[in-house]
Amino acid sequence: MRIIAVMNQKGGVGKTTTSVNLAAGLAHQGRRVCLIDLDPQAHSSIHLGVEVLGGTDSIYQVFAGAKPFHEVTQLVSKNLWLSPADIDLAATELELVDAPGREYVLKQALTSSNAAEKFDYIVMDCPPSLGVLTINALSAANEVLIPLQPHFFALQGLSKLFETTALVTRRLNRDLKVSGVALCLFDTGTRLAGDVTDDLMMFLEQSDPQAPWADAKVFNTKIRRNIKLAEAPSHGISIFQYAPTSAGALDYQNLVLEVIEAEAKASIDQRHAA
Ligand SMILES: Nc1ncnc2c1ncn2[C@@H]1O[C@H](COP(=O)(O)OP(=O)(O)O)[C@@H](O)[C@H]1O
Ligand SMILES: [Mg+2]
Repeated sequence: MRIIAVMNQKGGVGKTTTSVNLAAGLAHQGRRVCLIDLDPQAHSSIHLGVEVLGGTDSIYQVFAGAKPFHEVTQLVSKNLWLSPADIDLAATELELVDAPGREYVLKQALTSSNAAEKFDYIVMDCPPSLGVLTINALSAANEVLIPLQPHFFALQGLSKLFETTALVTRRLNRDLKVSGVALCLFDTGTRLAGDVTDDLMMFLEQSDPQAPWADAKVFNTKIRRNIKLAEAPSHGISIFQYAPTSAGALDYQNLVLEVIEAEAKASIDQRHAA
């Protein structure tokens, strides 16, 4: 099972759009996928047509120790499961502040629910912060996928993100690797987008070969800015259902194929880690 944390501490860079459409696209390719919404804003859940109202199960209950993971996970479409978020999740940061083992609550919940037997992929949509929810995602994950919006300050934020990943790798999860950076909200043909892409490639090439991001690649697929991607959430469906012939669907389909291409390597890495 590959466990992918979609993470960037900045908001509005395409985390949720990427999490939902990556998960949906992998499910279309016949993989059994569970998307875990770790953002109290619950945008991923709403994007998949699930709104947690009083009484609906959510991932909050897992962090509160009230329910096992499999009980808060629901099938939303063929091969695609969702563990929705709700606003209560905002309290988790505080509730876990002194709890022993607070970094591993999610990891343990996945193990106790035998998630590895039920899913081929877990995709986690992280909140735009580096708090306890994100740390739980990084402790449970074996891969980090970073959506990045080409932007003058993007690389500064990225080095911070890499440092955090390195810290988590050292302290909490030796198996964690940054698998790649996906450029999102990409304005094709603009000078800025091209420059940021070049700088990013150079940054990765020059990095320490021992660093947990040393193998990170910039995905060949650039997710172009496409209005259909912004419209799909309000219909409660992925881009593949909402506008299957749009540029947005095509780009995410290509990203999905790049992620699938790395399956062989991921299973070798996991065997080495075991
Ligand atoms: N490639 C894209 N083209 C057009 N709009 C996009 C694209 N990616 C994301 N958006 C829109 O940009 C906003 C921020 O994206 P989102 O995925 O929610 O970012 P994050 O989860 O990092 O905050 C949302 O309104 C989303 O619909
Ligand atoms: Mg989001």
